[in-house]
Amino acid sequence: MDSIKRAMALGFARFEAVFEYAFGQRNNPFVWLGALGWYFYWIVAISGVYLYIFFDTGITNAYESVEYITHEQWYAAGIMRSLHRYASDALVVVVVLHLFREFALDRLRGRRFFAWLTGIPLLAFIYLCGISGYWLVWDTLAQYIAIASTEWLDTLPLFGEPIANNFLNSTTLGDRFFTLMVFIHIFGPLFMLLLMWVHIQRHARARVNPPRSLAIGTLGILVVLSLVFPALSQGPADLDVVPAEIGLDWFYLAAYPLLEVIPGGQLWLYLFGGFVLLAVLPWAPPAKRVPAAAVNLDNCNGCARCFDDCPFGAITMVPRSDGRAYDTEPVVNPNQCTSCGICAGSCPTSTPFRRSGPLEPGIDVPRSPIAALRNEVVSRGDANQVLVIGCDTSDSAALEQDGVTVIQLPCVGMLPPSFVDFALARGFADGVMIAGCAEGDCQHRLGNEWTAARMARTRDPMLRQRVDKRRLLMSWLPRGSLKRRRRALADFRARLAELGDE
Ligand code: HEM
Ligand code: SF4
Ligand code: SF4
Repeated sequence: MDSIKRAMALGFARFEAVFEYAFGQRNNPFVWLGALGWYFYWIVAISGVYLYIFFDTGITNAYESVEYITHEQWYAAGIMRSLHRYASDALVVVVVLHLFREFALDRLRGRRFFAWLTGIPLLAFIYLCGISGYWLVWDTLAQYIAIASTEWLDTLPLFGEPIANNFLNSTTLGDRFFTLMVFIHIFGPLFMLLLMWVHIQRHARARVNPPRSLAIGTLGILVVLSLVFPALSQGPADLDVVPAEIGLDWFYLAAYPLLEVIPGGQLWLYLFGGFVLLAVLPWAPPAKRVPAAAVNLDNCNGCARCFDDCPFGAITMVPRSDGRAYDTEPVVNPNQCTSCGICAGSCPTSTPFRRSGPLEPGIDVPRSPIAALRNEVVSRGDANQVLVIGCDTSDSAALEQDGVTVIQLPCVGMLPPSFVDFALARGFADGVMIAGCAEGDCQHRLGNEWTAARMARTRDPMLRQRVDKRRLLMSWLPRGSLKRRRRALADFRARLAELGDE
């Protein structure tokens, strides 16, 4: 499984490099797939509400009302119809890419299973809402969908009477199914919104809005598409006539032609199997159990920075339990903590300058304690070298060379800024390079963003003013950018050489 993920991650990295080149790191759409999902959802919802004003929900007049929307009011409701369709298609594209990317980057195993599992029903809902939407137009495509879907449902032993009989000819046609579809198409998206909210419950500050320029750009593309290729109906449904040719929306309806070659029951089995397979992926294989972050109340002043910075909402602040003069203390939920160490990087007590007793911050991760980081800096440090602090995800280990020492942390967000000061002031490094994930794409969600802000002195704990920023390099690059990382390091070393002992 690991090699499949690695190959997929490499494929994504190659492909995304083109987008990064075109849009820049911040606006790379691949980094914002989940947020784009939310964005397209809102476009679909708003355009849908507008269409509902003009749409006739009865089967006899539905088609005419959609024709009115498309042709009479092409400049308003017509554009809304096209936006509704194209944003729904875009939703499928970004969500499917999002699924594959989260899988490839292994953001689903261990204590991160929650978003994955709650994503699966979302996928089903997207299709249910999309298919019911096509049904509502009641054109020949809707007729095809109605017949194919009900015949497929009839292969399940659910209904006494075959429900496809409703669509035998125009005399058997009733409003029953149509009303059900209207109901699904209105309440399905509302339920989906609830699920989307649940989906991000284990993400502090979940990114549900793409950057403004990306949002404007994608909306612009959808509007242009709507004007150039307006969404049209395919002729009124007539159950007495078998439609000769139908144009399918391949984003939603790609599985329908399969019904003609694979028996319906078998297709249900494949679908069910696909969902089961998706559902077990977070445990294929199970992640190694790493102990959660641990609080040491003796050194905690209740400042709540760890609570503010934890990307997975694993920390809550509760009333103080040890009788000390502080109001609150952090409590870690071990079922939500991914041991990223970002909380240890945010704790003001994680300072290497302390002299009395061992270094035990208010919060620490057992798999990579702050004291071990200090020991490494001290034992491997050298005044003539560059100290690279990298994360498990960046290729930082490969930067090790003569005059360069690499220390890897679970996430660079675990690095308290005081360590940069310590390494430079105490002669353990000539310069410090922080090598982390690309902007907006931290493997642990927020580690690079918090580190950049701490070093820029805009977020606590801040880098001390006395640190010469020319001796600090922050390198935020996507996976697979080893060459660019090496170049950045070489340039940095050259600049340090020019600085000399200044
Ligand atoms: C309507 C559909 C969906 C929307 C709008 C959506 C949106 C999002 C958003 C906004 C995030 C948070 C990104 C961040 O702040 O880091 C996220 C994370 C995630 N989603 Fe989705 N998602 C959808 C469907 C899915 C599906 C179908 C799957 C897979 C089955 C999935 C799997 C995940 C995973 C694994 C994460 C990241 C978990 C982590 O970082 O620990 N999502 N999604
Ligand atoms: S290790 Fe990471 S996930 Fe766990 S409490 Fe600290 S910041 Fe949160
Ligand atoms: S950041 Fe450190 S001192 Fe502040 S509440 Fe968390 S553990 Fe306590």
